[in-house]
Amino acid sequence: MRLLLVVNNLESGYGRLRVLRGVTLNVEEGEIVAVLGPNGAGKTTTLRALSGILPLWSGSITFLGRNLTKESPEARAAMGLGHVVEGRGILTSLSVEENLMLGRSLRRDGAQSIQRDKDHLLDLFPVLRERLKLPASSLSGGEQQMLALARSLLCRPKLLMIDEMSFGLAPIIVNQLFALVRQLRDEGTTSLIVEQQAGVLNICDRTFVLSGGRTVSQDDTGEAVSRADLVRSYLGDSEE
Ligand SMILES: Nc1ncnc2c1ncn2[C@@H]1O[C@H](COP(=O)(O)OP(=O)(O)OP(=O)(O)O)[C@@H](O)[C@H]1O
Ligand SMILES: [Mg+2]
Repeated sequence: MRLLLVVNNLESGYGRLRVLRGVTLNVEEGEIVAVLGPNGAGKTTTLRALSGILPLWSGSITFLGRNLTKESPEARAAMGLGHVVEGRGILTSLSVEENLMLGRSLRRDGAQSIQRDKDHLLDLFPVLRERLKLPASSLSGGEQQMLALARSLLCRPKLLMIDEMSFGLAPIIVNQLFALVRQLRDEGTTSLIVEQQAGVLNICDRTFVLSGGRTVSQDDTGEAVSRADLVRSYLGDSEE
């Protein structure tokens, strides 16, 4: 398997506030990697540093063999780094379809193949097809999350980074979304998924745990760290 993303000793923060103090992780092509950790661990900040929203203070990011450190967020996105942000980033005054088609801006291929992908995504998320012309504000939280995923997928990312897709959603919806990420993996989409819900352990191939802005544990083989221990330590007993 080819390494898609290699992140070494990332340091970054906000203004003068240092938040990341050594985040190290990697993602191989074709897998789902989960990043776990308590509130405030630096998970969202890590994704922001990876997508270039936040400047890197030190460390390195290599994506598809290229050093990303000096690349703009737009260049990273154009290279295939997708980011479903915390809180979904849906523009509620636009329609479902307009939100979805925002993903088109990164495509350099023709209208036909974009239309094919759009159709495929609407097959994957039938509820979006039903609401296509309605304002995005009329969608439930879970449906908005589906829209955010679909919009990112329309860019055909080589790596899809998803920040707490479970936030505020009922467990049954969360499990549906997890199953979908698994299905996407089987269709070839690689994902780096930040989560607090234990259900992610059922779909991910490997895990990294952040705490205090550092990588404190990694499960490189899928077995090195007991999954039950992970749940107890980082996700709360109630999720077991
Ligand atoms: N925009 C910001 N400005 C200043 N500090 C911030 C900002 N966003 C986050 N922080 C701080 O950075 C630290 C890490 O936050 P981050 O959002 O990365 O954590 P997280 O692991 O994603 O947590 P959660 O599970 O609650 O989403 C926290 O101490 C937080 O207060
Ligand atoms: Mg977060």
